[in-house]
Amino acid sequence: MSFVVQTVAADRLPDLLRRMPKAELHIHIEGSLEPELIFSLATRNGIALPYADVAALRRAYAFTNLQSFLDIYYAGASVLITSQDFYDMTLAYLRKAASDNVVHAEIFFDPQTHTSRGVGMATVIDGLHRACVDAQAELGISASLIMCFLRHLSEEDAFETLEQAMPHRDHIIGIGLDSGEVGNPPEKFARVFARCRELGFHLVAHAGEEGPPAYVWTAIDVLKVERIDHGVQSSKDALLMQRLAKDRIALTVCPLSNLKLCVFPDLASHNLRELLDAGLAATVNSDDPAYFGGYINDNFTQTFAAGGLQAQYAYDLARNSFEASFSGAAAKRLHIDRLNECFETFR
Ligand code: ADE
Ligand code: ZN
Repeated sequence: MSFVVQTVAADRLPDLLRRMPKAELHIHIEGSLEPELIFSLATRNGIALPYADVAALRRAYAFTNLQSFLDIYYAGASVLITSQDFYDMTLAYLRKAASDNVVHAEIFFDPQTHTSRGVGMATVIDGLHRACVDAQAELGISASLIMCFLRHLSEEDAFETLEQAMPHRDHIIGIGLDSGEVGNPPEKFARVFARCRELGFHLVAHAGEEGPPAYVWTAIDVLKVERIDHGVQSSKDALLMQRLAKDRIALTVCPLSNLKLCVFPDLASHNLRELLDAGLAATVNSDDPAYFGGYINDNFTQTFAAGGLQAQYAYDLARNSFEASFSGAAAKRLHIDRLNECFETFR
């Protein structure tokens, strides 16, 4: 049932976007590492960075495409050594998210980035998980973990990673696929995703960020994912758009990421409205907020301002975020009731 939302004056929209409860479904926790935290963890762990200071590091954040970002993102993650480091990073993100009225977050992590440096899987997952537990108590935000395989590595490496994660499987809600997309199609990971499906994990994959619509098709039909991360290239394929709409396969769209990685030349050209108008279950998310100039509310406010989007789109995006989440039915109902209340009482 759709909920009809009154028009809101343009100068009041940012307040509504900030206040509305929302879920964040596409956040790489290593992409929440702010330069200040990178420097303080480097000092704590005795790691020398190839940048003089925070300002010099920030100046390096001028990306031309996904790979130019990934090179610096993996280097930034090298300061994470102890369970406490992973805890501090995650709690900092969850505090920021809660201040944006995120009431539920599904957090990606890239274990291979850490295990390949000799950091144990238990160290990584223990820190992330403890922060999720403490954030629930401190902030009332729920959070769960999605373990991503790096698609530039082999499927064999992904199988090994899955094996290492099995003792911690109760702390992992789903499996994702990220890193350099073009040349690493979803079907490269067909067997390991089939195994993860047998094991009962939820499945998602990055597809159609820079890669073609064909990658979105194989993510759906070969990997059998429940959501597509990004998926913005889907609008180049009318049949694919129909399929995504018909099966309510959500897209976790990240507008500021797309802007910073030059997927769209400016936010006014972003296709978020086109996706929603075609009946797709699109959501708005931050991807790697420390690198792309904004957290989830910055993504909402800047995209709405640039595209002239109205309050009905805000409601639909927030509602899609709850419906597409991997929360239980009762939690979803509660979140959607709060969302309705927010829109009913907003003046
Ligand atoms: N890892 C972190 N951010 C990513 C993105 N936007 N695309 C693919 N892999 C990523
Ligand atoms: Zn991403």
